[in-house]
Amino acid sequence: MQRTVFAVAAALALALPGASSADEHQNRDYDHKPEAQDFIHGAPEVPSEAWTLAAGGRIYDNWWDALDREKPEGTNPAYPVSVNKEQSGPGTWRCKECHGWDYLGKDGIYSKGGHFTGIKGINGAIGKPVEEIGKTLRDANHPYTTEMITDEEIQRVAAFFSRGQVDMRSFIDYETRTVNTGDKERGRAIFQTTCAACHGFDGRLIDWGEDGAHNYVGTEAAELPDEVMNKILNAHTGVQMINLRAFPLSDAIDVLAYAATLPLEPPTE
Ligand code: HEC
Ligand code: HEC
Repeated sequence: MQRTVFAVAAALALALPGASSADEHQNRDYDHKPEAQDFIHGAPEVPSEAWTLAAGGRIYDNWWDALDREKPEGTNPAYPVSVNKEQSGPGTWRCKECHGWDYLGKDGIYSKGGHFTGIKGINGAIGKPVEEIGKTLRDANHPYTTEMITDEEIQRVAAFFSRGQVDMRSFIDYETRTVNTGDKERGRAIFQTTCAACHGFDGRLIDWGEDGAHNYVGTEAAELPDEVMNKILNAHTGVQMINLRAFPLSDAIDVLAYAATLPLEPPTE
């Protein structure tokens, strides 16, 4: 009973519309207070390496939610619509849509299925100078204007490309798309003391499922571990979520392994 009351109260607190409702770009249910704007969309005065890499990773995920920009209209003109007829609209402007959550493009999880484009990964950019990577983002494959992503923000995503990528083949089984390593007990400790503050001990306090479907931390970790790894290392875009970028990669893998054991179905009550 007490647990239910807490859950409802927390859900209400998260859903409470903040004073920033004038922010038309915010398309999430979890509106934030104006004080959180800087954390979610801004930059610290003296950015640490961990902050820079996570912020770059969020641009990679969804730059308009990450940076509080106008959502692009229509399909990205650079998107290979002749190759993939399933994807269209703003989503085709996301870096991950062409290069994959595992950064391997056509050689990774997007080698088949609804997100296939035949475009290569970005793992070739590992270790390259940030300036060189940055130039790519103004070429014909990348019709991003400075209003969409500024030069300074490009440096951020380029830093992520150069120094922030992880090789997901070391902890995800590519045949089954499931996590195949990690210390679940350590993951439990981290999850219960950090993630649970918002997602609940069982990961079901926030449900981002649409049209009657349910999507919890557990559901997503079991189905899309590569995507969840991006959220753990960089945070979800446009919301007030923490990330584990400042900690050893093994911590993130342990949380992912534990998250994949959390319930998939809604509570029965
Ligand atoms: C519409 C599809 C598409 C999207 C979206 C996209 N790219 Fe690319 N990207 C490409 C293509 C095509 C290439 C060139 C691949 C080749 O040379 O075969 C490329 C290459 C790159 C490279 C060079 C990789 C290397 O090996 O040196 C980088 C860096 C890059 N993209 C970054 C980004 C970033 C950052 C974003 C998001 C802001 C992004 N891309 C979004 C299609 C896309
Ligand atoms: C301060 C609150 C907070 C904390 C702490 C937090 N999250 Fe989140 N998380 C959120 C919010 C808010 C969302 C957005 C939900 C939505 O889009 O409906 C979210 C979204 C997510 C998503 C879904 C992203 C998607 O694809 O839509 C995952 C996965 C996730 N969080 C995992 C975690 C994990 C793992 C941790 C611990 C390392 C964590 N979160 C910690 C608030 C938090």
